[in-house]
Amino acid sequence: MLVIANTFRVGIIGLGYVGLPLALRFTEVGMPVLGFDIDEEKVRAIDQGRSYIKHIGDAAVERGRQHGMSATADFSRAAEVDALIICVPTPLDQYREPDLRFVIGTIEALLPHIRRGQLISLESTTYPGTTEEELKPRIESRGFKVGEDVFLVFSPEREDPGNPKFTTQTIPKIVGGCTPACLSAGIALYRKVIDTVVPVSSTQAAEMTKLLENIHRAVNIGLVNEMKIIADRMGIDIYEVIRAAATKPFGFVPYYPGPGLGGHCIPVDPFYLTWKARAYGLNTRFIELAGQINSDMPQWVMQKITEALNHRERSVKGSKALVLGIAYKKNVDDMRESPAVALMELLRTKGAVVSYADPWVPIFPKMREHHFDLASVELTPESVASYDVVLIATNHDAFDYPMIQTYAKLIVDTRGVYLDPAPNVVRA
Ligand SMILES: NC(=O)c1ccc[n+]([C@@H]2O[C@H](COP(=O)([O-])OP(=O)(O)OC[C@H]3O[C@@H](n4cnc5c(N)ncnc54)[C@H](O)[C@@H]3O)[C@@H](O)[C@H]2O)c1
Repeated sequence: MLVIANTFRVGIIGLGYVGLPLALRFTEVGMPVLGFDIDEEKVRAIDQGRSYIKHIGDAAVERGRQHGMSATADFSRAAEVDALIICVPTPLDQYREPDLRFVIGTIEALLPHIRRGQLISLESTTYPGTTEEELKPRIESRGFKVGEDVFLVFSPEREDPGNPKFTTQTIPKIVGGCTPACLSAGIALYRKVIDTVVPVSSTQAAEMTKLLENIHRAVNIGLVNEMKIIADRMGIDIYEVIRAAATKPFGFVPYYPGPGLGGHCIPVDPFYLTWKARAYGLNTRFIELAGQINSDMPQWVMQKITEALNHRERSVKGSKALVLGIAYKKNVDDMRESPAVALMELLRTKGAVVSYADPWVPIFPKMREHHFDLASVELTPESVASYDVVLIATNHDAFDYPMIQTYAKLIVDTRGVYLDPAPNVVRA
């Protein structure tokens, strides 16, 4: 039996968009947290009470620090904590197959320091079977029996960064254990900080639950993006249609089209299931189709930009283009998989002179596959008027949309910001 006493210490491995808010939540209830990260800069920032995630802010990290949060890159300190919660990235590799390098690297680094009585929880999104097939055998190779000596659970993170309606505390949390004792330990820990803990019968069910949630989004976004293309060709306003359909009080959930899929989760996670399903001789056709439609969206938007410029007797080549919002969604600074960057690449390839404005991203960050030596442009009537086309890629609340509409020569709006038709606005 795992007892969660007041002296219980939580270790969180991977202090990113998921790990940092979770760490802060534990400190709110007075549970000390030791964070682990291979990124020394994050470790330094936490120890100095600084945040590296804009929507979290320095004050929250400083408060956490004062309430017992510290960080280290030294994995030998894993023995000091009673629970180890793993929140490291789970990307796709160059062949779009699961890349478990970070999860395996983490468990291998922890292995020499794991001790009897600890609870280990994997939160990183992954395919069903990862906890049982990748973590459990490694832990048992140390001579521990999972369910007796060490408790192992999978508990997927549900974050909606930038959404003020939900907090880590109020988002219900799924937990699946390798054994009933593991499940009880997981429930006991998470109940300390989460209002509603939802147990499921296995780690595989918990892993699959997270994938269903994300696949549901990917498929529905793919559907509404396809509906947008059809509505556009038919001269129908897709946003009017969605608003009307959403008045149905049952059986319809509104999803909104955009320039493509972004973020670390929705464009990536569904393909974890695609890969695993292949081992069972199954194809994930909905996932593939939605992936194809969503990843083609930047090309479709590019075509709309080209046509709109052509209509004004301009070519893309040589045009000055301003991309508004380069984070993957509104009111956050996360650039991962952002379709805005795909659009910046397409515009540059076709010879446009590309600039961007994003209050959340003052300098174009270092990215593995993209390089733009750019800083965010200040939006003034003069600067807006100086571009041939202003592309709304991400609809941050901070933009002054009426001012932009007054001064822009041409706006290509991929987010349905402008409800009424206007001569200088083209929907895409
Ligand atoms: N961002 C979200 O909104 C979100 C929501 C739900 C689930 N998830 C899932 O949670 C997991 C983490 O995502 P994230 O957005 O927090 O990623 P992130 O990149 O923001 O953070 C991951 C952190 O892990 C660190 N790290 C990498 N390898 C490590 C290692 N071996 N040891 C210690 N630290 C290591 C990185 O330096 C980074 O700080 C992913 O599986 C993701 O799919 C993310």
